[in-house]
Amino acid sequence: MKVRRWMTAGAVAVATVAALNTVPAAAGKPYDPTSQTLGALGLRHGLQVGTAISMDALNDADDPQYRKIAATEFSSVTAENVMKWESLEPTRGNYNWGPADQLVDFAKRNRQRVRGHVLVWHNQLPEWLTGGVADGSISKPELRELLRRHITTVAKRYQGRIWQWDVVNEAVSDPWDTPPTLHYKGFWAEHLGPGYLADAFRWARAADPKALLYYNDYNIEAFGSGNPADDKTQFVYDMLRRLRAQGVPVDGVGSQGHLGTQYGNYNTFQVTEALRRFTSLGLVTAFTEVDVRSQLTEGVRAGDSEEINPRLQASAANFSVLMKACLAVRSCLSYTVWGFSDNHSWVPGWFDDPPEGLATIYDENYQPKLAYHEIKSDLILAGPPYVLPRLAPKPRR
Ligand code: G3I
Repeated sequence: MKVRRWMTAGAVAVATVAALNTVPAAAGKPYDPTSQTLGALGLRHGLQVGTAISMDALNDADDPQYRKIAATEFSSVTAENVMKWESLEPTRGNYNWGPADQLVDFAKRNRQRVRGHVLVWHNQLPEWLTGGVADGSISKPELRELLRRHITTVAKRYQGRIWQWDVVNEAVSDPWDTPPTLHYKGFWAEHLGPGYLADAFRWARAADPKALLYYNDYNIEAFGSGNPADDKTQFVYDMLRRLRAQGVPVDGVGSQGHLGTQYGNYNTFQVTEALRRFTSLGLVTAFTEVDVRSQLTEGVRAGDSEEINPRLQASAANFSVLMKACLAVRSCLSYTVWGFSDNHSWVPGWFDDPPEGLATIYDENYQPKLAYHEIKSDLILAGPPYVLPRLAPKPRR
């Protein structure tokens, strides 16, 4: 029985490798992979290539190119803002589903999967909730019940339509926070204690038995010192190992991938190693919010190509490092960019001293940048034996 199973598995592997090596034929025309979309090229590896979507941009009648690229270039989408609690329940008890529903419908029309973002985060919470806790009108037991109800309501509404949920986002501090020793940070840890993480995953699983449930964070692309007091990747790894050991239904870890060209950053092997170590916990992985920003010096702003070119090249190299690492690890199910064009990126609005930008794969006029071409070539040139089709994970009960 065992032998037969192995033989079947072997036959499937051989067939898969053969299929991957087959080039799609088109009558009379040589196959040109460069004319394929990122989404289509990713599917060759079973990898979804996605983007965060700004609903304002999607609904802007004067911006048809945004809509076109959003609909065609990617095989999955994430709501940049409209599934956050402040958007969904701006006043207590009144859910505003319109924009989130619109995104989910958009994805369905375009045969895209949806990464749900986000059920529990300390940012973009409604004022009635944070204000109520601050003035004491919402007690701790009531807060916990409100969180349970929120997770349940949202996850149930989109049950069957969300592929991966970011259940908990950014629960861990950074070395520059106070105190510098890494710890559970933010509104939820402060008011409910770290036990809210296990609760959140259990409530999400009860509401949606089929979605893959992710923990999502930034600055976890590679391991550092290995000391959880100052190595955020290690802290998150230990946290997820404990949650898994307790039987908490966490399926995956999302590494956001917000990088900057002014930092040292990592090579492909370091990032691959981190994905592998998370995989060894029984988790699937993903890059969930990739962008690579640069400082906009005076020269850059004045259009000086000697200042712009190295930044575009460094940005492309970092996009590519994350893509190659993702391709190399079969648990890495998706690679999502956090906005695809520089005119709709969160970066310039967020980093203004010094100003930063140039963070995405298309420029402000929707021209693909070097980064776009580099990740496309990664998708085209990858294949067996080093790059194999993605795993098909089962959500954990
Ligand atoms: O909707 C209001 C609008 O009514 C108002 O006129 C305008 C004036 O500032 O603000 C608008 O809200 C902004 C919102 O984005 C929607 O555009 C907020 O000010 C702005 O702070 C908010 O920024 C978002 C940020 O999360 C908030 O923390 C970014 O768009 C969004 O890209 C960013 O996304 C996060 C991920 O969720 C988690 N990981 C990090 C990532 C980047 O910060």
